[in-house]
Amino acid sequence: MRYDAIVLGAGGAGLLAAATAGQAGARVLVLDHADKAGKKILISGGGRCNFTNTGTEPECFLSDNPHFAKSALSRYTQWDFLALVERHGIDWHEKTLGQLFCDGSARQIVAMLLDECARGGVDVRLSTQLGAVIHADGQFRVAGASAPQLVIATGGPSIPKMGATGVAYDIARQFGLGLVAPRPALVPFTLGGDDMPFREISGVSCPATARVRGRSFQEAALFTHKGLSGPAILQVSSYWSPGDTVSLNVLPDAAGKLRAARKRMPRAHMKAALTEHLPVRLADVLSTRIGVTTELGNVSDADLDRAADILTDLTFRPSGTEGYAKAEVTAGGIDTAALSSKTMEARTVPGLYAIGEAVDVTGWLGGYNFQWAWSSGAAAGQAI
Ligand code: FDA
Repeated sequence: MRYDAIVLGAGGAGLLAAATAGQAGARVLVLDHADKAGKKILISGGGRCNFTNTGTEPECFLSDNPHFAKSALSRYTQWDFLALVERHGIDWHEKTLGQLFCDGSARQIVAMLLDECARGGVDVRLSTQLGAVIHADGQFRVAGASAPQLVIATGGPSIPKMGATGVAYDIARQFGLGLVAPRPALVPFTLGGDDMPFREISGVSCPATARVRGRSFQEAALFTHKGLSGPAILQVSSYWSPGDTVSLNVLPDAAGKLRAARKRMPRAHMKAALTEHLPVRLADVLSTRIGVTTELGNVSDADLDRAADILTDLTFRPSGTEGYAKAEVTAGGIDTAALSSKTMEARTVPGLYAIGEAVDVTGWLGGYNFQWAWSSGAAAGQAI
């Protein structure tokens, strides 16, 4: 059967692109090797899918070209997706920091997208191996189907056990599109060396401001048996390169708090002062790192300030990350320089499009990555 467009990947980006194009009258085929559509949607947000963020702005995305996402994000916004969710009667709530979740289940989002595809007469073919993509006589041929337009929506290689692959990059290379080196993002860090004691307080978390290369996020940080995780850490991991340090401020105004503690309980030790603000096991490791052993009343201003500096700028030098196995997304990918920011079409290969996580646009944690999938999917869907 001949189609107007073949979409590779039945994830969020591919399904929204297919539904948009189908409802505008195009004959669309979606191909996926998985046995279910939208597998990452199903596991997202703890099963409730953090489907967008009310604070979506271009500044919440990383890309070699920070301007690229602006057009698509402004033409299909978080409010457009929310309106779709409401039209389907899906109840939702805002958790924190503008993050919108389903009240019920992420399955509702997948059902909504498949329903939208059905309304557009889209064929969704699952459990299908793609094999080679052939381009000849203005047609793209893949898995026995052909169409003059092909949309790469196969995501990135994060979480391979869910069926994620780097096939988007193989197809991009085949057609001469550039790649920005892909890397795991929104990913926990591993710690070694001097930071080993922190691995012994696995399970402890605290509010913190994490900072890497001048970018900072104030959320929870979590110590794990391998290193560091939690939202604040995942956020800065997207900005991290091997060799960079990660700084944590675990006690804002530490100097003021320590001085107050010294006045109030001069016979106590550093650990007791820290335990007033931090989990006991963390206070234990930190008081060892600070190394002040005398009673607080005998600690000089200079030593107190040194302790405060450690608490407000606790530096780690991660040995690495937990890699694609644990990365919520892949940063980098198909170079935006190869694509039109209005349509997502390849500049040098008419009819070829790339959308979603496959492209070098990566959102912060908190619903931004799905919003990019919807916005870039809508942009390509409208152009088909
Ligand atoms: P996506 O990866 O969703 O879809 C790609 C599709 O292509 C898949 O169906 C796959 O099977 C198919 N495919 C891949 N290789 C193929 C091949 N070789 N042949 C055939 N088919 C192939 N984001 C967010 O905004 N809010 C959230 O709550 C979460 N939560 C979350 C939790 C977890 C555990 C993860 C791993 C990720 C998230 N994310 C998230 C990120 C979000 O899931 C991600 O950014 C989007 O799903 C990307 O959508 P795409 O459609 O681009 O790719």
